[in-house]
Amino acid sequence: MCGIIGYIGNRQAQPILLNCLGMLEYRGYDSCGVAVSSSGIEVYKDAVRVEALGKVSPQFSGTAGIGHTRWATHGKPSQVNAHPHLDCTGSIAVVHNGIINNFQRLKRQLISEGHSFVSETDSEVIPHLIEKYYHGNLEEAVVAALRDVEGSYAIIVLRAGEHRLVVARKDSPLIIGIGDRENFFASDVPAILDYTNRVIYLEEGDIGVATPDGIKIRRDGAEVVREEHKILWSVEDAQKGGYEHFMLKEIHEQPKVIRDTLGAHTQATELEVDLAVVRDRGIESMLILACGTSYHAALIGKYIVEDLLRIPVRAEIASEFNYYGQTLAGTAAIVITQSGETADALKAIRRLKEVGCWLLAITNVVGSTASRIANQTIYTRAGPEVSVAATKSFIAELMVLYWLAMSYSKADGKRLASLLIGLRQLPSKVQQVLDDEDKILECARYLSGYENVFFIGRGINFPVALEGALKLKEISYIHAEGYAAGELKHGPFALLGSNTPVIAIVAQDNTYDTMLTNIKEIKARGSPLIALAEEGDEAIGELADSVITVPRVDAMFSPVVNTVALQLLAYYTAKQRGCPIDFPRNLAKSVTVE
Ligand code: F6R
Repeated sequence: MCGIIGYIGNRQAQPILLNCLGMLEYRGYDSCGVAVSSSGIEVYKDAVRVEALGKVSPQFSGTAGIGHTRWATHGKPSQVNAHPHLDCTGSIAVVHNGIINNFQRLKRQLISEGHSFVSETDSEVIPHLIEKYYHGNLEEAVVAALRDVEGSYAIIVLRAGEHRLVVARKDSPLIIGIGDRENFFASDVPAILDYTNRVIYLEEGDIGVATPDGIKIRRDGAEVVREEHKILWSVEDAQKGGYEHFMLKEIHEQPKVIRDTLGAHTQATELEVDLAVVRDRGIESMLILACGTSYHAALIGKYIVEDLLRIPVRAEIASEFNYYGQTLAGTAAIVITQSGETADALKAIRRLKEVGCWLLAITNVVGSTASRIANQTIYTRAGPEVSVAATKSFIAELMVLYWLAMSYSKADGKRLASLLIGLRQLPSKVQQVLDDEDKILECARYLSGYENVFFIGRGINFPVALEGALKLKEISYIHAEGYAAGELKHGPFALLGSNTPVIAIVAQDNTYDTMLTNIKEIKARGSPLIALAEEGDEAIGELADSVITVPRVDAMFSPVVNTVALQLLAYYTAKQRGCPIDFPRNLAKSVTVE
């Protein structure tokens, strides 16, 4: 998704902008550009990587500037469609994240008033509207322009000859990094970590005017003060640290992520306070909303919460939830979104808030939009996740769900005590999976030669099959489908055969015997079969062609070790196929469009 950056201070802006844009690359983009203000506005942009832009761009002199990485929505990736966009006079430059829904009407109107456009983008209407309303005061012009705009935006505006930036946000994130007589603006914290860890999160409808010495923020015309936060992530957290890819680094961070996330909540009473609200309101059911990998965490959450809290739980894809009627009386809602900025999830939770549903957000990003809309927020402690394919944020989400369900469990004391021991052992169990890669590597080499793969699971490991398939398809480009093992014979059996390997997740729970039967049925149809099974499972070796062994854990925690093994399987398969693992084609880290 698009990333934006702004700088105002006393240093040369261009190298800082390029460096920050480099830190935003992980969001996924197809073109990029910078604009620097001196006596005029100098712009350089193209459909190239940030590194290439830095090499070919002329050196601009100026201490205020803006930059952008674009992920095409309106118009193909090209030089003209890349940001920054300019007004007719070339003296107002704008970078924009979000979507202007009414841009076609605005564009027609502006053209009839004499403005000329060069791009196919929705964003280009913004500098033209600012030009239209500019009568000597840039902030007033921005306010007037935004009154005409319907949609979502985070914008940074630069005007030739003015040593100030005007910024605004609505439904799209924008943060301010505070330096020493300099200020940074970005869509995302990692972009500015090289320069500062002091951050302010702009709120919905905020408009700010920044100079090197400070920033004045207004909302509805009145000046407001926004709290400053200290970011605990380091630059190293957001770098590869010797690993070949961010994804591998992030997979290997998972034992620590489990410790950090559980540590943060088990030591605090914070969670109890949160859930007292749910209990006091007599909640009878739960709704968990999310997208993509976070949706798979939601599905696992359904099994955990139903088992331990004994209330009905619905896990829903946020984008679908937006299209049907809901019965929400007595329901508490949880939204899971690692970024806290996913448009589909935000739309769903805004609706929930409108109908008065109590809402808890589980997110990895402090100050994200989801956390500001929700009644309560529980933060995962995964640190910055750079790889587009989510790994450690998923495991951290599961940790919050386990802890949440265990805190309010109706299970007996003996079972809870045993679960608690199991939970505390998870970091070392995950470490065991990470240390024992040989079999996974062998299976990855084997899988890399196929174009179609099924993943099957049952019970709490059915969502793990979905997640295993999602990881494999997004980074290796192998077509993979996750299925509930019992569903395979209701249609997909037609695709089985020697060219379609099946990966079966074999858990030591009440699904075990049926899963062995399913495996026999699959083998009878000629598909190669890789089993993911617990250590000590003797029977599986005789049925499967290959077995990846994971450590023994309570069945409730089996999704954790199984998912980590499947993350490594997807990673090494993609590596074998020479894929660009951290930045898969067509994908973006944070999906801020519906
Ligand atoms: C897949 C992946 C995506 C995200 C999805 C939701 O590896 O990362 O499927 O899980 O876009 O993102 P969040 O959790 O930020 O709402």
